[in-house]
Amino acid sequence: MPVRDPGWWQAVNPPTTPEGIIPFESYVIREKGKVEVATDACAECHTRVMADGKVIRGAQGNVPFAQMFAYAIRNVPEKTPAAPFNDVFYAAPWIKPDPSLPLGGGGIKPFHDHLASLPQGVNPRQGTSLLYPIQIPDLIGVKDRLYLDRTGLEQNRNIADLMRYDAINNFIQEITSYDGFIPNNDPGDAKLPDAKTQSRDSDRALYALAMYLYSLKPPPNPNKFDALAAKGQKVFAREGCPKCHTPPLYTNNMLTPVEGFKVTDEAKANYRIMPIVVGTDPYNALNTRRGTGFYKVPSLTGVWYRGPFGHNGEAATLEDWFDIHRLDDKYVRTGYRGYNLKSSAVPGHEYGLDTSTEDKQALIAFLKSL
Ligand code: HEC
Ligand code: HEC
Repeated sequence: MPVRDPGWWQAVNPPTTPEGIIPFESYVIREKGKVEVATDACAECHTRVMADGKVIRGAQGNVPFAQMFAYAIRNVPEKTPAAPFNDVFYAAPWIKPDPSLPLGGGGIKPFHDHLASLPQGVNPRQGTSLLYPIQIPDLIGVKDRLYLDRTGLEQNRNIADLMRYDAINNFIQEITSYDGFIPNNDPGDAKLPDAKTQSRDSDRALYALAMYLYSLKPPPNPNKFDALAAKGQKVFAREGCPKCHTPPLYTNNMLTPVEGFKVTDEAKANYRIMPIVVGTDPYNALNTRRGTGFYKVPSLTGVWYRGPFGHNGEAATLEDWFDIHRLDDKYVRTGYRGYNLKSSAVPGHEYGLDTSTEDKQALIAFLKSL
């Protein structure tokens, strides 16, 4: 449990409850007479504090985590190369040139500054990308999802899979060999650490953690299924959304290949794959350690309390996700803007974009009622 430098919360200004409580941090006493603040591990990224201060456990988190990371490295001398940090979290040197180099191959300052600029609700999780940070998922309802991660990197067939996911993501992948590249070691050192020196959470702890994730429930939805939502439900059906966002889960639990990825017969035999390319940015699926060549169809339940949307959180709101102008290169994104970009299109997933303003309003009212 990392203990916080007392200055961090003034620096990053995290959201709090009306009582001033930061709901994903705890006081710890490790030494008599000394009270310290420590992170609540998973809860830090997977807790949402709403505008009115209400706390939704397990929802897409909105803690300024990237700013906290940037704060932690703020005093690293400017001339220090970013490579040691980049190697641990993002490097993918088996792809030539390594796609993480635009930030990972330079100095620490641009790396720090870009981190500090990321919007809340996306996170440059290890194995994803600082150039393409990923949407933090809503963990409410995770039991019903057959694939974990936006790229469907891991299956979720039963509680053991979820336990495995939690164990692996608790930093085990940083002692993984990626075709000879081992993130935590010096470049060129292809040895994994002796297993005897390593540990992970116990099966009991992981089981309890997974049971906790199963127990997460959405808060009561303030958006009623009214006449507008009923009209939106018809638009939803007419536009073919249920084919992929199938009720009652509002996902068909399938994977869609990205542009330029050839699906093998083996993959077709073993995974639930739709032969449809949705056309969103393929970077995370092709250029990162969590890449699989696919993105999953996300569930649409709980969209009323979450955002930003899209796998990189490119659209701050549902209104922006269904704004046809987002296909234009001159579009200024409302969510994650991309690295070094003032404007750029949010490509793909054109479903519902060319409907009338009234139909869109109804569609969004329906989605917010889920
Ligand atoms: C630094 C922020 C952060 C922390 C801390 C964190 N997560 Fe996550 N978590 C993420 C992000 C971002 C993803 C999405 C990764 C992706 O899609 O590639 C994710 C994905 C997941 C998923 C997959 C859900 C899905 O539908 O794809 C589960 C389950 C999960 N986290 C559980 C946990 C648990 C349990 C812990 C504590 C051991 C934890 N997380 C700690 C940011 C975090
Ligand atoms: C062919 C399958 C398919 C169809 C049809 C489809 N979607 Fe999607 N939808 C997806 C996929 C895949 C994503 C993930 C996109 C990404 O990776 O950024 C997605 C993402 C979304 C999101 C963003 C969710 C989030 O958490 O990021 C919304 C909202 C959405 N779809 C609504 C709709 C609506 C409404 C329709 C009908 C007008 C529709 N979709 C039609 C496959 C589909």
